[in-house]
Amino acid sequence: MSARPPRTDFGTDDPAKLTALIGSAVACLLIGLFLTGGGARLLAAVPLVAFAVLSTAAYSRARASSLTKRRLWDALLDDLALTGTETALDVGCGRGLVLAGLAQRLPHGRAIGVDRWRTREQSGNHPAATEATMRLLGVDGRTEVRTGDARTLPLEDASVDVATAGLILDHLDGADRRLAVDELLRVLRPGGRLVAVDHRRLDDVLDQLRVAGCAPVRAWRQRGGPPYPAFHVIVATTPPVTTGQAH
Ligand SMILES: C[S@@+](CC[C@H](N)C(=O)[O-])C[C@H]1O[C@@H](n2cnc3c(N)ncnc32)[C@H](O)[C@@H]1O
Repeated sequence: MSARPPRTDFGTDDPAKLTALIGSAVACLLIGLFLTGGGARLLAAVPLVAFAVLSTAAYSRARASSLTKRRLWDALLDDLALTGTETALDVGCGRGLVLAGLAQRLPHGRAIGVDRWRTREQSGNHPAATEATMRLLGVDGRTEVRTGDARTLPLEDASVDVATAGLILDHLDGADRRLAVDELLRVLRPGGRLVAVDHRRLDDVLDQLRVAGCAPVRAWRQRGGPPYPAFHVIVATTPPVTTGQAH
């Protein structure tokens, strides 16, 4: 009998939005049932249709927070064809979905997760929760979970081979996003790889990477499973001498 994979909980993105969707769906259902009970069957169709739409949206959002996102990152990390000895950084690691994916591909390397642990952006966001997940997956020996800010990363210059940023850059405003990208370029080694996934197309990030000499810089849009917003992916290779080192 094959062993079941451990049950991991990577949290829910933007939990307030999911709660609002579920609350609105339940309210529509109750109104629909109330109107049906009162004999106003035709009128009841309106809240009942709204219930169907809202509950589909809630399901799709919850699914994208876990399954859809996990599949996307699995494909992106596989594409990196890591040798298994690299040092990787996952900035804004949250509950550790991407961090775990990196650590699983680095049996002789290291994966460092850095976060400010904002529970508004991911449910149950706490370093202890992420560390517990890494233990559950058996990758705690090669992961490090640190508290820090993407704008001032607690890492040395040119100290990582790969950096990932999942759904964090589009949470930062223009100036902060610029600082965060500068920091990623500073900590990446020459020829290092950066993978960023967001729900918005971030042209400013693409421009910044190209001006810094990254090549190639690839960007594409990936469906998130409607009505969940699509994912926008950026994959870039840092230049032989990074801007951070040139300073
Ligand atoms: C939507 S969650 C995504 C978490 C994880 N990357 C994933 O894809 O599942 C965004 C994460 O970015 C973190 N974050 C936001 N601003 C940050 C900053 N300035 N520095 C470090 N982490 C930050 C939040 O605490 C949160 O954990």
